[in-house]
Amino acid sequence: MNENNRPVDIDMPADPVSAATHADPYPCYAALRDGPPLAWNEKLRLWVASRADVVEQVLLAHGALRVRPAAEPVPRAIVGSPAGEVFGHLVRMNDGVAHQAHRPALQRALAGLDLNAVHVAALRVAQRVPGQQPLSDTLFSMPVQAVAHLLGFADDALAQVDRWMRDFVACLSPLSTPEQLERASAAAGELMARFEMLAAVAPPRHGTLLAAVLAESAGDARVSRSLLANLAGLLTQTCDATAGLVGNSLIALMREPSLLRPLSGTRNGLQAIVEETARHDPSVHNTRRFAAEAVTIAGTPLAAGDAVLVLLASANRDPALNPDPDRFMPVRARRRMLGFGHGMHACPGQALACTLAAASLEALLPRHAADFDAQRLRGWSYRPSVNGRIPVFH
Ligand code: HEM
Repeated sequence: MNENNRPVDIDMPADPVSAATHADPYPCYAALRDGPPLAWNEKLRLWVASRADVVEQVLLAHGALRVRPAAEPVPRAIVGSPAGEVFGHLVRMNDGVAHQAHRPALQRALAGLDLNAVHVAALRVAQRVPGQQPLSDTLFSMPVQAVAHLLGFADDALAQVDRWMRDFVACLSPLSTPEQLERASAAAGELMARFEMLAAVAPPRHGTLLAAVLAESAGDARVSRSLLANLAGLLTQTCDATAGLVGNSLIALMREPSLLRPLSGTRNGLQAIVEETARHDPSVHNTRRFAAEAVTIAGTPLAAGDAVLVLLASANRDPALNPDPDRFMPVRARRRMLGFGHGMHACPGQALACTLAAASLEALLPRHAADFDAQRLRGWSYRPSVNGRIPVFH
């Protein structure tokens, strides 16, 4: 029995972190939502927020709750390396005043994208990704190469940027091996050099995301290292999360092939599948916050230094957020989700991510739809991760 006097199901995840890569974490999340607003997990030594209203409160308390522990702004394993330099500049990973300065430019540039044009460009890039590589790798290549293209990289550089990005994001996980950390630093150095070259072209190529970010950062006569790192950060933010969204959308279609019929590959239909997947089985299951000072959240006093695990995927299935939340419904009157965060650090790339994922699906379906039944039988597992849900197809 567990602390709520429920029988412990042997198929339940061992804890709310390993839930992200469990075959079916949703009963575990439902049990957590029935518990206290913030539940102390002794094994992980952190507080767990699982209900939508509590997740929102935690993410809105950005004065007291920060994205990194005060004592370790950059993970120890990469401090002093090129990867550490990039990490230290990312608005996603920091709450410093200097970081806040870049946020509006990134938000406005992403909000200004013409998503129809993005879909057309992303589809063209995705269709050129070679079909010989395993599907589980293609999930990454299609959206990453599309964002590299949007930023202004030439077609012949896209595959290389994709490889560097895969190496670089490996260092963002606490599960990274020393070899991965070394490769990540080499990749970070190369990426920064490439972004420097791209940004040095004056004026930057019209219509690119790079030109839009630079225009929104007007006043910076010289492009700073921190802005360059945040441009590279647009690729890191795309990489794992969008790969997972594409993969989990494919799984939704494999589980329920009848979804394909009314769509027959239409753009709006695929967009609806992707958006419902982002709610129902998202690629980012959790994020964390760290108390910089004592604070009370949902009636629970937290001490300075306490950590909170914020279960975004659980919040998406909270019946208080969406009616009938366990049902996969591409058409919903008012779909609400917290899988892209909330408050100051909320994802400015949500619409872009869904567009990239829909374009990737459009490119993947002609290649793989005929194999869906066989793929469902072969099955899939999830890449080792503490927060991402990214399938590996067997
Ligand atoms: C399915 C794909 C994606 C998911 C699930 C996702 C999810 C998230 C989440 C949950 C956060 C907030 C984390 C936190 O508060 O702790 C975030 C932040 C961010 N995302 Fe995304 N994201 C995705 C794709 C993208 C894309 C394509 C871009 C841009 C190209 C992007 C750019 C960013 C940036 C810049 C931030 C930091 C915002 C800030 O701190 O001000 N994301 N994302």
